[in-house]
Amino acid sequence: MNPALTQIGTQMSNLTGVRAIMKDINETLRAGAGQELNNLSAGNPLILPEVEQLWRDCTAELLASSEYGEVVCRYGSSQGYTPLIEAIANDFNKRYGLNLSDRNILITPGSQSLYFYAANSFGGYTNSGELKQIVLPLSPDYTGYGGVCLVPEALIAYKPTLDIDETAHRFKYRPDFNQLSISENTGCVIFSRPCNPTGNVLSDDEVKKIAALAAPYDVPVLVDSAYAPPFPALNFTEMTPVFGNNTLHCMSLSKVGLPGERIGIAIGDEKMIQVLESFQTNLCIHPSRYGQAIAALAINSGALPIMAEQVIRPFYQNKFAVLENTLETAMSKDLPWFLHRGEGAIFAWLWLQDLPITDWEFYQQLKQVGVIVVPGSTFFPGLREEWQHKHQCLRISLTGSDEEIVTGMQRLAKVAEEVYQKSYKVA
Ligand SMILES: Cc1ncc(COP(=O)(O)O)c(C=O)c1O
Repeated sequence: MNPALTQIGTQMSNLTGVRAIMKDINETLRAGAGQELNNLSAGNPLILPEVEQLWRDCTAELLASSEYGEVVCRYGSSQGYTPLIEAIANDFNKRYGLNLSDRNILITPGSQSLYFYAANSFGGYTNSGELKQIVLPLSPDYTGYGGVCLVPEALIAYKPTLDIDETAHRFKYRPDFNQLSISENTGCVIFSRPCNPTGNVLSDDEVKKIAALAAPYDVPVLVDSAYAPPFPALNFTEMTPVFGNNTLHCMSLSKVGLPGERIGIAIGDEKMIQVLESFQTNLCIHPSRYGQAIAALAINSGALPIMAEQVIRPFYQNKFAVLENTLETAMSKDLPWFLHRGEGAIFAWLWLQDLPITDWEFYQQLKQVGVIVVPGSTFFPGLREEWQHKHQCLRISLTGSDEEIVTGMQRLAKVAEEVYQKSYKVA
């Protein structure tokens, strides 16, 4: 059976970005079964025992309550499960002094679907044939944005500026406001904060500046807060969520231990929420309610934000410290390596300046010594211009054990040394 595919069918049946690399990684893992492989490529959060226990306890509470049948045996509203919507409104109103009502909140089956709704509601061709762009203000960013738009030419990303600390071997991306263009041709703006893959956190001022550029055109600004406070609170630096008329604060419960339950949350202006809600009704009626019901319990009791701050954040922050310390001792001071400032998320981002081979070739060489990371060039969706930097970076996941991270980084340092040495010799 070989059915003819439409344009959209062809596009959607392609694997984009990191999903394409994952195929290679999975094959490597399968072929290397029994071999010692340090897999530092995963985006899947680890199962932390305290977090698992929280969800077990909430499940027991739900099972024992009269609400259970209502949750799993009946359809619900497209907007989401009312007790979860109320729990979020109450928590955010108290925590951030907001005035949210239930009309400001939408629950989706994972936040990936939320970006799909938004990208195709606000980006693409209008009724009068104008192309509305989906702007990614700072590239690299989440690879999943590459696959969400049914009109691929709508996606446009901007190169950042780099703050480089040569002696410390650290760097940080900043949005380049001299290049960034938000205009009547913009449909929406999306960025992750903290950022997957880099761990960058845009400052409150940078976010406000982007929102202010978009406001005169009524352009929605989606702040992908999959790693942000109050949960999972995977920020290692101070940051405050920014709310406003044209911002859509987008959350995910995947990094608080519920990736399998698929829960995304959008908070914003009622009009934007209504558009996305209708999209959802057409697509899937509503997200599954079991995960929403246990999430409501954990938010109402206050356990979830505490778990995020006291268990989840320190766990990954320690992993970053292990990685950073290992690179400090293992990497030659004479090589031009730069680790992105670890401001949040569950990844480290390493830039090997003037790398004599591509990131893909470096990834292959690392595999030979049993270390798997993700080549960085997959994280620049929408960036149209050629940029050498794209082929000089690696994403290293903090989901390995301390030992795996230490050995992985020691081996990486050795491979880097050899690769640069070879090119110096040839030169
Ligand atoms: C920045 C970012 N946004 C969105 C997602 C999608 O998350 P989910 O669909 O599980 O909510 C991820 C997943 O890793 C992510 O890293």
